[in-house]
Amino acid sequence: MTSGGLAVHEFTVALNEGVADGLMRIVISAPELAAALAPGQFVNIHVPGDASQILRVPLSFSHADAAAGTVEIVYAVVGDGTRRLSEMTAGETSTAVGPCGNPWPTVPAARRACVVAGGVGVTPVVACARMLAASGVAFDAVVGTQTAGKLWGTDVLEGLGAGAVAVTTDDGSAGRRGFTTDALADLLAEKDYDVVYTCGPEVMMAGVARLCRDAGVRCLVSMERMMCCGFGACGTCNVAMADGTYKSCCKDGPVFDAEEVAW
Ligand SMILES: Cc1cc2nc3c(=O)[nH]c(=O)nc-3n(C[C@H](O)[C@H](O)[C@H](O)COP(=O)(O)OP(=O)(O)OC[C@H]3O[C@@H](n4cnc5c(N)ncnc54)[C@H](O)[C@@H]3O)c2cc1C
Ligand code: FES
Repeated sequence: MTSGGLAVHEFTVALNEGVADGLMRIVISAPELAAALAPGQFVNIHVPGDASQILRVPLSFSHADAAAGTVEIVYAVVGDGTRRLSEMTAGETSTAVGPCGNPWPTVPAARRACVVAGGVGVTPVVACARMLAASGVAFDAVVGTQTAGKLWGTDVLEGLGAGAVAVTTDDGSAGRRGFTTDALADLLAEKDYDVVYTCGPEVMMAGVARLCRDAGVRCLVSMERMMCCGFGACGTCNVAMADGTYKSCCKDGPVFDAEEVAW
Protein backbone atom coordinates (compact mmCIF):
# COMPACT_ATOMS: atom_id res chain seq x y z
CA MET A 1 0.00 0.00 0.00
CA THR A 2 1.26 3.49 -0.76
CA SER A 3 -0.31 6.92 -0.29
CA GLY A 4 1.72 10.11 -0.61
CA GLY A 5 4.98 8.43 0.42
CA LEU A 6 3.26 6.30 3.05
CA ALA A 7 3.99 2.60 2.53
CA VAL A 8 3.97 -0.72 4.31
CA HIS A 9 7.58 -1.70 4.95
CA GLU A 10 8.76 -5.14 5.98
CA PHE A 11 11.29 -5.03 8.77
CA THR A 12 13.59 -7.40 10.61
CA VAL A 13 14.38 -6.90 14.28
CA ALA A 14 18.12 -6.23 14.67
CA LEU A 15 18.00 -5.92 18.46
CA ASN A 16 15.45 -5.41 21.21
CA GLU A 17 16.81 -4.67 24.67
CA GLY A 18 15.84 -3.16 27.99
CA VAL A 19 17.39 0.26 28.55
CA ALA A 20 15.64 1.39 31.76
CA ASP A 21 12.75 0.33 34.02
CA GLY A 22 9.85 -0.48 31.69
CA LEU A 23 11.69 1.01 28.71
CA MET A 24 12.90 -0.95 25.69
CA ARG A 25 15.03 0.01 22.71
CA ILE A 26 14.28 -1.78 19.46
CA VAL A 27 16.35 -1.37 16.32
CA ILE A 28 14.66 -2.56 13.15
CA SER A 29 16.26 -3.06 9.79
CA ALA A 30 14.09 -1.46 7.07
CA PRO A 31 16.31 0.45 4.61
CA GLU A 32 13.60 2.23 2.59
CA LEU A 33 11.74 3.29 5.72
CA ALA A 34 14.96 4.50 7.38
CA ALA A 35 15.73 6.62 4.31
CA ALA A 36 12.21 8.07 4.15
CA LEU A 37 11.73 9.10 7.79
CA ALA A 38 12.32 12.64 9.04
CA PRO A 39 12.67 13.50 12.76
CA GLY A 40 9.26 13.97 14.39
CA GLN A 41 7.42 11.53 12.13
CA PHE A 42 6.29 8.15 13.42
CA VAL A 43 5.71 4.59 12.28
CA ASN A 44 2.75 2.28 12.85
CA ILE A 45 3.95 -1.20 13.74
CA HIS A 46 2.13 -4.50 13.37
CA VAL A 47 3.11 -6.65 16.32
CA PRO A 48 2.63 -10.34 15.53
CA GLY A 49 1.44 -12.88 18.06
CA ASP A 50 -2.27 -12.17 18.55
CA ALA A 51 -4.55 -12.48 15.52
CA SER A 52 -7.36 -10.69 17.38
CA GLN A 53 -5.23 -7.53 17.66
CA ILE A 54 -5.46 -5.84 14.29
CA LEU A 55 -4.49 -2.35 15.43
CA ARG A 56 -0.92 -1.29 14.84
CA VAL A 57 1.14 0.43 17.53
CA PRO A 58 2.13 4.04 16.68
CA LEU A 59 5.69 4.80 17.76
CA SER A 60 8.05 7.71 17.22
CA PHE A 61 11.71 7.03 16.60
CA SER A 62 14.92 8.34 18.10
CA HIS A 63 17.20 7.61 15.14
CA ALA A 64 16.54 6.81 11.50
CA ASP A 65 19.95 5.84 10.14
CA ALA A 66 19.71 5.89 6.34
CA ALA A 67 23.30 4.64 5.91
CA ALA A 68 22.75 1.61 8.15
CA GLY A 69 19.15 1.13 6.95
CA THR A 70 17.90 0.98 10.55
CA VAL A 71 15.34 2.73 12.73
CA GLU A 72 15.78 2.97 16.53
CA ILE A 73 12.69 3.26 18.73
CA VAL A 74 12.63 3.61 22.50
CA TYR A 75 9.27 2.56 23.89
CA ALA A 76 7.50 1.98 27.18
CA VAL A 77 5.86 -1.37 27.82
CA VAL A 78 2.35 -0.31 28.85
CA GLY A 79 -0.14 -2.83 27.45
CA ASP A 80 -0.59 -5.88 25.30
CA GLY A 81 0.84 -4.49 22.04
CA THR A 82 4.01 -3.09 23.54
CA ARG A 83 4.42 -6.23 25.69
CA ARG A 84 4.33 -8.42 22.58
CA LEU A 85 6.70 -5.99 20.86
CA SER A 86 9.09 -6.36 23.81
CA GLU A 87 9.09 -10.12 23.25
CA MET A 88 10.24 -9.88 19.61
CA THR A 89 13.80 -11.10 19.17
CA ALA A 90 16.55 -10.44 16.61
CA GLY A 91 15.73 -11.96 13.23
CA GLU A 92 11.94 -11.83 13.64
CA THR A 93 10.04 -9.93 10.97
CA SER A 94 6.88 -7.85 10.70
CA THR A 95 5.65 -4.69 8.96
CA ALA A 96 5.64 -0.98 9.74
CA VAL A 97 3.54 1.68 8.01
CA GLY A 98 5.38 4.95 7.51
CA PRO A 99 6.49 7.62 7.36
CA CYS A 100 3.39 8.83 9.27
CA GLY A 101 2.68 12.44 10.18
CA ASN A 102 4.77 15.55 9.83
CA PRO A 103 8.35 16.16 10.95
CA TRP A 104 9.61 18.70 13.46
CA PRO A 105 9.95 21.92 11.47
CA THR A 106 13.28 23.66 11.41
CA VAL A 107 12.87 27.30 12.40
CA PRO A 108 14.58 29.65 9.94
CA ALA A 109 17.43 31.65 11.46
CA ALA A 110 17.16 29.80 14.78
CA ARG A 111 20.55 29.80 16.49
CA ARG A 112 19.73 28.34 19.90
CA ALA A 113 17.03 25.86 20.87
CA CYS A 114 15.96 23.92 23.90
CA VAL A 115 14.49 20.41 23.73
CA VAL A 116 12.29 19.23 26.61
CA ALA A 117 11.42 15.56 27.13
CA GLY A 118 9.04 14.07 29.67
CA GLY A 119 9.04 10.28 30.16
CA VAL A 120 9.06 8.34 26.93
CA GLY A 121 8.57 11.63 25.05
CA VAL A 122 12.36 11.46 25.00
CA THR A 123 12.16 9.32 21.83
CA PRO A 124 11.13 12.02 19.30
CA VAL A 125 13.06 14.61 21.32
CA VAL A 126 16.32 12.72 20.70
CA ALA A 127 15.45 12.63 16.99
CA CYS A 128 14.87 16.39 17.20
CA ALA A 129 18.28 16.88 18.84
CA ARG A 130 19.89 14.93 15.98
CA MET A 131 18.17 17.28 13.52
CA LEU A 132 19.39 20.38 15.40
CA ALA A 133 22.94 19.02 15.68
CA ALA A 134 22.99 18.21 11.96
CA SER A 135 21.84 21.72 11.05
CA GLY A 136 24.29 23.48 13.39
CA VAL A 137 21.70 24.83 15.84
CA ALA A 138 23.07 24.97 19.41
CA PHE A 139 20.75 23.35 21.90
CA ASP A 140 20.21 22.56 25.56
CA ALA A 141 18.07 19.71 26.83
CA VAL A 142 15.76 19.02 29.75
CA VAL A 143 14.89 15.39 30.47
CA GLY A 144 12.38 14.54 33.18
CA THR A 145 11.16 11.19 34.51
CA GLN A 146 9.37 9.93 37.59
CA THR A 147 12.49 8.31 39.00
CA ALA A 148 16.16 7.65 38.13
CA GLY A 149 15.54 4.09 36.96
CA LYS A 150 13.30 5.31 34.13
CA LEU A 151 15.86 7.70 32.69
CA TRP A 152 17.18 7.19 29.16
CA GLY A 153 18.84 9.43 26.60
CA THR A 154 20.92 11.91 28.58
CA ASP A 155 24.21 10.39 27.33
CA VAL A 156 22.89 10.42 23.77
CA LEU A 157 21.95 14.09 24.07
CA GLU A 158 25.39 14.92 25.52
CA GLY A 159 27.00 12.98 22.66
CA LEU A 160 25.00 15.03 20.17
CA GLY A 161 26.55 18.18 21.64
CA ALA A 162 23.85 19.53 23.98
CA GLY A 163 25.23 22.59 25.80
CA ALA A 164 23.49 21.62 29.02
CA VAL A 165 21.42 18.56 29.90
CA ALA A 166 19.19 19.27 32.90
CA VAL A 167 17.68 16.18 34.53
CA THR A 168 14.60 16.30 36.75
CA THR A 169 12.90 13.48 38.62
CA ASP A 170 9.63 13.59 40.53
CA ASP A 171 11.25 11.86 43.53
CA GLY A 172 14.67 13.53 43.41
CA SER A 173 16.52 10.23 42.77
CA ALA A 174 18.46 11.82 39.86
CA GLY A 175 19.11 15.44 38.99
CA ARG A 176 16.81 18.08 40.39
CA ARG A 177 13.69 17.07 42.32
CA GLY A 178 10.75 18.52 40.44
CA PHE A 179 9.35 18.82 36.96
CA THR A 180 10.87 19.62 33.58
CA THR A 181 9.04 22.94 33.71
CA ASP A 182 11.05 23.96 36.82
CA ALA A 183 14.31 23.41 34.94
CA LEU A 184 12.99 25.03 31.76
CA ALA A 185 11.86 28.14 33.67
CA ASP A 186 15.45 28.63 34.89
CA LEU A 187 16.93 28.05 31.44
CA LEU A 188 14.48 30.48 29.83
CA ALA A 189 15.50 33.11 32.39
CA GLU A 190 19.22 32.57 31.69
CA LYS A 191 19.36 31.97 27.95
CA ASP A 192 18.01 33.40 24.78
CA TYR A 193 16.26 30.58 22.92
CA ASP A 194 14.70 30.99 19.49
CA VAL A 195 12.56 27.87 19.82
CA VAL A 196 11.63 25.11 22.27
CA TYR A 197 10.71 21.61 21.09
CA THR A 198 8.87 19.31 23.48
CA CYS A 199 7.23 15.91 23.84
CA GLY A 200 5.87 14.34 27.01
CA PRO A 201 2.68 14.09 29.04
CA GLU A 202 0.09 16.60 27.84
CA VAL A 203 -0.02 18.41 31.18
CA MET A 204 3.75 18.91 30.94
CA MET A 205 3.57 20.20 27.37
CA ALA A 206 0.82 22.62 28.41
CA GLY A 207 3.18 23.94 31.11
CA VAL A 208 6.07 24.20 28.66
CA ALA A 209 3.80 26.03 26.21
CA ARG A 210 2.76 28.50 28.94
CA LEU A 211 6.36 29.23 29.95
CA CYS A 212 7.35 29.77 26.31
CA ARG A 213 4.41 32.05 25.67
CA ASP A 214 5.35 34.16 28.73
CA ALA A 215 8.96 34.30 27.52
CA GLY A 216 7.96 35.11 23.93
CA VAL A 217 9.67 31.97 22.60
CA ARG A 218 8.16 29.79 19.87
CA CYS A 219 7.18 26.33 21.12
CA LEU A 220 6.62 23.19 19.05
CA VAL A 221 4.89 20.20 20.64
CA SER A 222 4.51 16.57 19.61
CA MET A 223 1.06 15.34 20.62
CA GLU A 224 -0.20 11.80 21.28
CA ARG A 225 -3.64 10.39 20.75
CA MET A 226 -5.14 6.92 20.60
CA MET A 227 -4.88 5.99 16.92
CA CYS A 228 -6.59 3.42 14.73
CA CYS A 229 -5.45 4.03 11.14
CA GLY A 230 -2.51 6.43 11.57
CA PHE A 231 -3.03 8.16 8.24
CA GLY A 232 -6.12 10.36 8.45
CA ALA A 233 -8.88 7.93 7.50
CA CYS A 234 -10.72 7.02 10.72
CA GLY A 235 -11.14 10.26 12.69
CA THR A 236 -10.16 8.84 16.09
CA CYS A 237 -7.20 11.07 16.85
CA ASN A 238 -8.64 14.59 16.98
CA VAL A 239 -6.73 17.40 18.67
CA ALA A 240 -8.76 20.48 19.68
CA MET A 241 -7.35 23.70 18.27
CA ALA A 242 -7.43 27.11 19.95
CA ASP A 243 -9.68 28.43 17.14
CA GLY A 244 -12.40 25.87 17.93
CA THR A 245 -11.59 23.50 15.07
CA TYR A 246 -10.10 20.01 15.27
CA LYS A 247 -7.08 18.57 13.53
CA SER A 248 -5.99 14.97 13.23
CA CYS A 249 -2.98 14.07 15.32
CA CYS A 250 -1.81 11.45 12.82
CA LYS A 251 -2.02 13.42 9.57
CA ASP A 252 -1.98 17.12 10.56
CA GLY A 253 0.39 16.41 13.49
CA PRO A 254 1.79 14.91 15.56
CA VAL A 255 3.83 18.14 15.68
CA PHE A 256 1.88 21.35 16.26
CA ASP A 257 2.76 24.90 17.09
CA ALA A 258 1.85 25.20 20.80
CA GLU A 259 -0.15 28.36 20.03
CA GLU A 260 -2.46 26.36 17.72
CA VAL A 261 -3.52 23.91 20.43
CA ALA A 262 -6.45 24.36 22.87
CA TRP A 263 -4.71 23.35 26.11
C1 LIG B 1 2.32 9.56 17.25
C2 LIG B 1 2.62 8.68 18.45
C3 LIG B 1 3.93 8.41 18.77
C4 LIG B 1 4.21 7.60 19.87
N1 LIG B 1 5.52 7.36 20.16
C5 LIG B 1 5.82 6.58 21.22
C6 LIG B 1 7.18 6.30 21.51
O1 LIG B 1 8.11 6.73 20.82
N2 LIG B 1 7.44 5.51 22.58
C7 LIG B 1 6.42 5.00 23.37
O2 LIG B 1 6.70 4.29 24.33
N3 LIG B 1 5.13 5.25 23.09
C8 LIG B 1 4.81 6.02 22.04
N4 LIG B 1 3.49 6.25 21.75
C9 LIG B 1 2.44 5.63 22.60
C10 LIG B 1 2.20 4.18 22.14
O3 LIG B 1 1.62 4.21 20.87
C11 LIG B 1 1.26 3.49 23.12
O4 LIG B 1 1.91 3.35 24.36
C12 LIG B 1 0.87 2.11 22.59
O5 LIG B 1 0.04 2.24 21.47
C13 LIG B 1 0.17 1.31 23.66
O6 LIG B 1 -0.23 0.08 23.07
P1 LIG B 1 -0.43 -1.22 23.93
O7 LIG B 1 -1.18 -2.21 23.09
O8 LIG B 1 0.86 -1.68 24.53
O9 LIG B 1 -1.29 -0.74 25.13
P2 LIG B 1 -2.85 -0.58 25.23
O10 LIG B 1 -3.37 -1.80 25.91
O11 LIG B 1 -3.45 -0.16 23.93
O12 LIG B 1 -2.89 0.66 26.20
C14 LIG B 1 -2.25 0.64 27.47
C15 LIG B 1 -2.46 1.98 28.13
O13 LIG B 1 -1.87 3.04 27.36
C16 LIG B 1 -2.86 3.97 26.95
N5 LIG B 1 -2.56 4.37 25.57
C17 LIG B 1 -2.53 3.58 24.48
N6 LIG B 1 -2.22 4.28 23.39
C18 LIG B 1 -2.04 5.56 23.80
C19 LIG B 1 -1.72 6.76 23.14
N7 LIG B 1 -1.53 6.85 21.84
N8 LIG B 1 -1.65 7.88 23.88
C20 LIG B 1 -1.84 7.84 25.20
N9 LIG B 1 -2.15 6.73 25.88
C21 LIG B 1 -2.26 5.60 25.18
C22 LIG B 1 -4.17 3.24 27.06
O14 LIG B 1 -5.24 4.11 27.32
C23 LIG B 1 -3.93 2.34 28.25
O15 LIG B 1 -4.09 3.04 29.44
C24 LIG B 1 3.17 7.05 20.67
C25 LIG B 1 1.85 7.32 20.33
C26 LIG B 1 1.57 8.14 19.24
C27 LIG B 1 0.14 8.43 18.91
S1 FES C 1 -5.68 7.65 13.56
FE1 FES C 1 -7.17 7.54 11.98
S2 FES C 1 -7.47 9.64 11.52
FE2 FES C 1 -5.81 9.67 12.90
